Amino acid sequence: MTTRTNQAGAGAGAGAGPGQGGRPFLYVVVCAAGVAVDVGRLITAAQERDWEVGVIATPVAMGGFFDTAEVEARTGRPIRSAWRSPGDPRPFPPPDAVVVAPATFNTLNKWAAGTADTLALGTLCEAYGLGVPIAVLPCVADALAAHPAYRAGLERLRGMGVRFGDPYGGEAEEDGRREEFHWERALDLLTADGNGGPVTR
Ligand SMILES: Cc1cc2nc3c(=O)[nH]c(=O)nc-3n(C[C@H](O)[C@H](O)[C@H](O)COP(=O)(O)O)c2cc1C
Repeated sequence: MTTRTNQAGAGAGAGAGPGQGGRPFLYVVVCAAGVAVDVGRLITAAQERDWEVGVIATPVAMGGFFDTAEVEARTGRPIRSAWRSPGDPRPFPPPDAVVVAPATFNTLNKWAAGTADTLALGTLCEAYGLGVPIAVLPCVADALAAHPAYRAGLERLRGMGVRFGDPYGGEAEEDGRREEFHWERALDLLTADGNGGPVTR
């Protein structure tokens, strides 16, 4: 699949132009999981690997799961979360690749089912048809991951060519610390050679 024409305008669209400096453009989709507080680490790592980054967050994630002002300062672009109005310009160029990190139980299940009732989900549903690489770092507790719908959904997404990092439960210890979340793994997954740089250079 090589198509990159964006029709629904979920994420971006033809005519929005390339990223600043002509660098390949990476969409980082952020869901409402506790580890999202550190999403800045992924953005910085992607920028160091020569990606231009635009963040699309779920509406729940926008409600205090990460520092939105800090992320906007880091990317130099507004975070997208709501659908644009018809006639409004498309703020992001089309994606060269998409990362979902952290990916919640809710968003993964809905994406696998083809639901597009948030901008984040619409973007993910469309990314498959655009034929760009998609990497996912799930953050789902074991008790939820046991649900048959979740397991079937992952199988479906894998069958669509979506690349997954290792399972991660996301539960904090009593002292508030969590096992390390391997943000950069998402970038490694984007390329066949595993170096994690842009795929279109
Ligand atoms: C503090 C907090 C942490 C959460 N962490 C997770 C998590 O790690 N994984 C997950 O799947 N859901 C987690 N949730 C639940 C999701 O936020 C909830 O299912 C939400 O509807 C997901 O929305 P989204 O998929 O649109 O981002 C958490 C909720 C709260 C309040």
